[in-house]
Amino acid sequence: MTKNREFTPEENQLFEDIKNGKTFDKDDDMPELYRKSLIHLLWMQGDSEYSGALGYMPWIEKAPTLQEKVLVAQIVKDEMRHASVIYRLLKDLGQGPQEHVENTELGYKLEEDEVNIGFKRLKDDYRVNIFYYNIKYWTDFILFNFLMDRAAGHQLQDTLNSSYLPWKKGIEGIYKEEIMHLTHGDKWVKILSQDPKDKEFLQERLNLWWPRVMNVFGSAKGRANDLYVKLGLKKRTNAEVRDAFVTEIQKLCDEVGLVVPEYDENVQPK
Ligand SMILES: [Fe+2]
Ligand SMILES: [Fe+2]
Repeated sequence: MTKNREFTPEENQLFEDIKNGKTFDKDDDMPELYRKSLIHLLWMQGDSEYSGALGYMPWIEKAPTLQEKVLVAQIVKDEMRHASVIYRLLKDLGQGPQEHVENTELGYKLEEDEVNIGFKRLKDDYRVNIFYYNIKYWTDFILFNFLMDRAAGHQLQDTLNSSYLPWKKGIEGIYKEEIMHLTHGDKWVKILSQDPKDKEFLQERLNLWWPRVMNVFGSAKGRANDLYVKLGLKKRTNAEVRDAFVTEIQKLCDEVGLVVPEYDENVQPK
């Protein structure tokens, strides 16, 4: 990634043009900085969708009711479809998603349960690092819907206005499906909060997952996001998206009496 260097006059002109509404289509000539950033973000989304689908997959079998198995199967299918949409965009940009999927360990999950890997990457792929953690309980599956699908929804909201037209187009259906996933999470957070024992466990698991999901928004020290905003590949800074997400979670947790844990990116629980 291009960090800590001065932008060239051409690049500054590009930022200006994008601010004034310039967009790109797949066969357009793209400045190198734009192309590299776009490809990087697409890989991150594609690998996250793919490894997310695989992480949800065992829960088709383990979901508590027949109706829930159907819903989980639907969610798995959605995530795999999201991956295929994004990988197709990468293929159109000359990348090799088929080889990538075959040669990387996108199904890999951490065995340990109560760990926090901070901002680390564990394998040679581009997934957002929350997808390295294992979904151990049904409560975790619900929290993934409640937290991670919601975080993804907030991030994808920016892509609805992307300067890269094929991505903007592809994201519309994806965004709607993510809303279905997080609604499933909200429904179950309410159900689990009604039983004192379930609620206690939900709070325990929320405490574990919270720093993991907050890390998804990246470190405030990272500068790459500012560049994505200049390129029209994102609209808001990570901190702005994260604040919108936290405000929503705080309201939902207040409604059911759950406590939103403290978070400090510099203090990562082990
Ligand atoms: Fe997705
Ligand atoms: Fe999702």
